[in-house]
Amino acid sequence: MMLRKLGEADAFAYRDVRLFALRESPTAFGASYEQESAMMGDAFIAHYRARVVEPAGFVIGAFEVDGSLVGTAGLFFNAGLKSQHKALLWGIFVRPSARHQGLASRLVAAVILAARAIPGLEQINLSVVSTNENAIRLYLAAGFKCYGCEPRALRVDGIAHDENLMSLDLRPTQVRNF
Ligand SMILES: CC(C)(COP(=O)(O)OP(=O)(O)OC[C@H]1O[C@@H](n2cnc3c(N)ncnc32)[C@H](O)[C@@H]1OP(=O)(O)O)[C@@H](O)C(=O)NCCC(=O)NCCS
Repeated sequence: MMLRKLGEADAFAYRDVRLFALRESPTAFGASYEQESAMMGDAFIAHYRARVVEPAGFVIGAFEVDGSLVGTAGLFFNAGLKSQHKALLWGIFVRPSARHQGLASRLVAAVILAARAIPGLEQINLSVVSTNENAIRLYLAAGFKCYGCEPRALRVDGIAHDENLMSLDLRPTQVRNF
């Protein structure tokens, strides 16, 4: 399995995986299949550029030897002057056929490694539905800590889901009190 950042040429492979993910795991993501699948052609490319590729952020993809995209992990940068030190981990997904081989752990580790090289980036935040125990274990193992819970953060098919809010401090330990 090869891991690399997605580029412009990966737009439609990403779209296939992303729409599969939104349909397969509707409660795992804040975005909805209905809204993302409605973005086609130029609207989708505009969305891809604004969300998925640099400089907006990046998505690391896991590719099989035949070139098919089977997993993703994204980092989205905050543009605001007062929030540029924070980024959002999002879009963590591994196709069912590739699960339980450590791929999500590798993807999250690759995002964190790339994030550590970004000057001024101090913190990665994420939100995860409170009942998604597999994903929570994965984030805890990567060093994220839970700092809160948003009640009824998502409503899917009429059912409300709470979300755990988690954060990873990227600063060296000696400066953490500032
Ligand atoms: C959550 C998700 C990304 C995990 O992907 P994954 O690639 O299976 O994750 P990993 O393989 O790194 O870890 C999963 C488990 O497999 C275990 N594992 C890792 N390598 C293994 C191996 N070689 N053999 C057996 N098990 C293994 C891990 O220890 C882990 O076990 P745990 O859940 O008991 O801690 C995937 O299930 C998914 O896409 N789910 C739907 C979308 C989702 O929930 N995304 C998160 C949104 S916040």
